[in-house]
Amino acid sequence: MSNIYLPKKYKILSITPQSPIEFLFKVETDLKPEAGQFLQVSIPKVGEAPISVADFNHKEGWIEFLIRKVGKVTDAVFSLEIGDHIFLRGPYGNSFPLEKFKGKRVVVLAGGSGIAPVRPLIKTLINNPSHDLELLFGFKDQESILFKKEIDAWRQNTPMILTVDKGCGLDGECVGLVTEYIPHLKLLHSLDNLEVVIVGPPMMMKFSALEFIKQGVSEENIWVSFERNMSCAVGKCGHCKIDETYICLDGPIFNYTKAKKLLD
Ligand SMILES: Cc1cc2nc3c(=O)[nH]c(=O)nc-3n(C[C@H](O)[C@H](O)[C@H](O)COP(=O)(O)OP(=O)(O)OC[C@H]3O[C@@H](n4cnc5c(N)ncnc54)[C@H](O)[C@@H]3O)c2cc1C
Ligand code: FES
Repeated sequence: MSNIYLPKKYKILSITPQSPIEFLFKVETDLKPEAGQFLQVSIPKVGEAPISVADFNHKEGWIEFLIRKVGKVTDAVFSLEIGDHIFLRGPYGNSFPLEKFKGKRVVVLAGGSGIAPVRPLIKTLINNPSHDLELLFGFKDQESILFKKEIDAWRQNTPMILTVDKGCGLDGECVGLVTEYIPHLKLLHSLDNLEVVIVGPPMMMKFSALEFIKQGVSEENIWVSFERNMSCAVGKCGHCKIDETYICLDGPIFNYTKAKKLLD
């Protein structure tokens, strides 16, 4: 019987800094995740951490991870160079409900590094013209804006509001909390066929969801993604459990009807 906890080693193809503490790692792999899933990324003798898939290409055989340097494992990952090896197991968790989004109008709101898990979703929706898509991104300040070049490319053809909490919007960003700009979204002019995806810090997700509900969006049409301390990632250890819900198995993506109980 194979050991489900045993990671395999994969080569780092490129490392692209996105901010002083957030780097994009592209890894050569035959693993085939879907948008919204995560993998356990590890370094031998250091430990492992769940990291969302920030993009992938099954045909070309690579996955990208946006990793924020915050502790033991992520510090060790930042010491690696192109050509070095990293260990992966997974993919784990559910993916964004693309089937449900077919032909729908979709708003994607991401705060800070929450842009990483929605990046493959955004690319899929942009490449599928049957969707009406609108984007709302919130960052702390200019320095923490991630995927700047991609954001600029997306905004050529997709309506977008980009906000910074403080400082000045040097490139025309709106200044203030991202939640303040929800009523300005064009797609909210009609609530027909509207789905909303919110990914970011828990408080941001909660208050954003409440603002969408205030604007008339029903809870069934709101989706969020959770980051929660994990260990096994396969429903065995209970580290990620909130009440009866295993975030690693039942999530990380939840409909707001369920998520609202987990966010409180
Ligand atoms: C489903 C899911 C998806 C995720 N996706 C991503 C992703 O795409 N990118 C990403 O970067 N992260 C992601 N995370 C979060 C990531 O897994 C955690 O940040 C992880 O714990 C980092 O591991 P670490 O060993 O580097 O940090 P740890 O050493 O475990 O530190 C974790 C936290 O503890 C704090 N800490 C560490 N040491 C100390 C100390 N001595 N005193 C006080 N505080 C301390 C750190 O500031 C940090 O906030 C995700 C988590 C989940 C559950
Ligand atoms: S992380 Fe072990 S049960 Fe979810």
